[in-house]
Amino acid sequence: METIENRLKDIRHDLDHDLSNIHSQEEFDQLKIKFLGRQGLINTLFKTLPIKDNPEIPKLINILKSEIEVKIDQKSLSLSQELRTTSIDVTLPGINPPQGSVHLITQAIEEIENIFARLGFIRRRYPEVDTDWYYAEGLNIPKDHPARDDQETFYLDKNIVLTAHTSNGQLHEMELMKHPPIKMTNIGKTYRRQTDATHNPMFHQFEGLLIDKDISITHLIGVTEYFVKSYFGLDREVRLRPHHFQFTEPSFEIDISCDICQGKGKINDKRCKICKSGWLELGGAGMVHPNVLRNGGIDPEKYSGFAFGWGVERVLMMKSGLKLPDLRQLFSDDLRFLKQF
Ligand code: PHE
Repeated sequence: METIENRLKDIRHDLDHDLSNIHSQEEFDQLKIKFLGRQGLINTLFKTLPIKDNPEIPKLINILKSEIEVKIDQKSLSLSQELRTTSIDVTLPGINPPQGSVHLITQAIEEIENIFARLGFIRRRYPEVDTDWYYAEGLNIPKDHPARDDQETFYLDKNIVLTAHTSNGQLHEMELMKHPPIKMTNIGKTYRRQTDATHNPMFHQFEGLLIDKDISITHLIGVTEYFVKSYFGLDREVRLRPHHFQFTEPSFEIDISCDICQGKGKINDKRCKICKSGWLELGGAGMVHPNVLRNGGIDPEKYSGFAFGWGVERVLMMKSGLKLPDLRQLFSDDLRFLKQF
């Protein structure tokens, strides 16, 4: 029995020695054959030892066999790692890590922000969840006024609202600055009770506010033209249509000429399918109402100003000719869609 145990010990020793000297797949395959192959050391033990006379012997051989199998498996793992790290082909082209990009809407916001910054407008971020005062009442919209019906929105409680426009920034800015000149843009999320292919309950607006001495509609037109020509192109025209907002007087809707029919409303005597009239609506604007100036602590006898509030998604679509079957794609986070931009 003792000599048998010695033979097993020798094999163990042999295995450890061989394993530590293996550095290639071929050497590894040979080692496997040497110990576990048909003519290998283990099988030779079964054939040469008196296993029938002593049932302990096959048990011992089997224990040794499983030990060898485990060690060989471990070596197989470490060898494949070793081979992988030592066999880098530096002449192969590298693997490009995937690269992210700025979301389409963020790109538009940055572009808009930069255009107004060139005119000296500071970009603010005023609350998207605000009190009724900043959102409506302070903007000359009393609690029972029908103008509130135009902007059905989400109230978190009686006094706190998810803002349906960025105009709530106007009073915040007057309070912050206290004295004109005031020149700011407030770009942010807005919320309305609407959802269909062309409307999303959340969208973005950019608000502009300029207050100083002797500010007139001419300045509003000048700033609007600067924006329109910078953002859409030099050939685009601007027009003002009378409108009504509670917080501006007079108030306007601003239109820009359609690029498809060059403002003619017709292409080869056929009505332009994009605009139908030669003009596309940009959004609301007007001269800040004296009550709003007063609510912001500014004397309307001394100062005047203008404000506008336009949609980011709207200008983005108008500029790029991007025709989305569903506007909500912009917010879907579907990479197949977003990767195009
Ligand atoms: N707040 C208005 C809207 O959301 C737009 C607007 C802003 C109009 C500023 C006039 C002045 O429709």
